[in-house]
Amino acid sequence: MNRSVLVSGGNRGIGLAVARAFAEAGDRVAVTYRSGEPPAGFLAVRCDVTDPAQVERACQEVAEEHGPAQIVVANAGITRDRLLARMSEDDFGSVLDTNLAGAFRLVRHTAGGMMRAGGGRIVLISSVMGLSGSAGQANYAAAKAGLVGLARSLARELGSREITCNVVAPGFVDTDMTRALSETQRARILGQVPLGRYARPEEVAAAVRFLASEEAGYLTGAVLPVDGGLGMGH
Ligand SMILES: NC(=O)c1ccc[n+]([C@@H]2O[C@H](COP(=O)([O-])OP(=O)(O)OC[C@H]3O[C@@H](n4cnc5c(N)ncnc54)[C@H](OP(=O)(O)O)[C@@H]3O)[C@@H](O)[C@H]2O)c1
Repeated sequence: MNRSVLVSGGNRGIGLAVARAFAEAGDRVAVTYRSGEPPAGFLAVRCDVTDPAQVERACQEVAEEHGPAQIVVANAGITRDRLLARMSEDDFGSVLDTNLAGAFRLVRHTAGGMMRAGGGRIVLISSVMGLSGSAGQANYAAAKAGLVGLARSLARELGSREITCNVVAPGFVDTDMTRALSETQRARILGQVPLGRYARPEEVAAAVRFLASEEAGYLTGAVLPVDGGLGMGH
């Protein structure tokens, strides 16, 4: 493997695990990072996915350094959990802008290169909450559900160009995002997961790598849950 891979939000958590999984397979991996130090071992491009110009520039830089991205993983995401009565316009808009429009921007600036190359793989990181809904997460669940519509539209639009577009829907993964939950919340969640534990980021990364593999060449528009059984039935 020596493909040009681009992962947004690849400086920590699931994104970093995804970047490492591709690098271990021998791919040329670029990550975007918004804050802090860039992770070692990758081409790291600073980029806030809510800024269209930064996304465009990041995609250009990756194309110049590694060649146009053949695999794009839209992973950057945030939560701003509040019950509806307390959810502001900004709480709603910023989560949609980061999690949904951020993925759109990344794909918009990389799909052309994939078309010219005669193929590519797009993977969007959604969430089990996008399918089941979640009290206190109307913004997050709406954004994550939106990714399914985005992916399936792109699967139809780009399929004839040998570009697949799939969604990975993790359940609870042990990262900073879930470490912010209280012990009570964590215990309640674990009680609902048939496998009785959180996922490791590497387990989500394995699903992403599979969707980008030769073996997954005929898979497109799919939503692959990596949730320990939490979302069964959705
Ligand atoms: N953890 C879970 O249980 C879980 C479950 C289902 C789905 N997911 C999804 O998986 C993805 C990764 O989550 P995680 O658990 O690894 O979260 P995390 O540890 O909080 O990391 C989030 C990543 O997204 C980046 N990011 C956030 N806003 C950004 C922006 N405006 N522009 C660019 N980058 C931005 C962060 O950059 P900074 O370092 O600069 O903040 C960080 O790299 C998210 O889309 C999340 O919704 C997570």
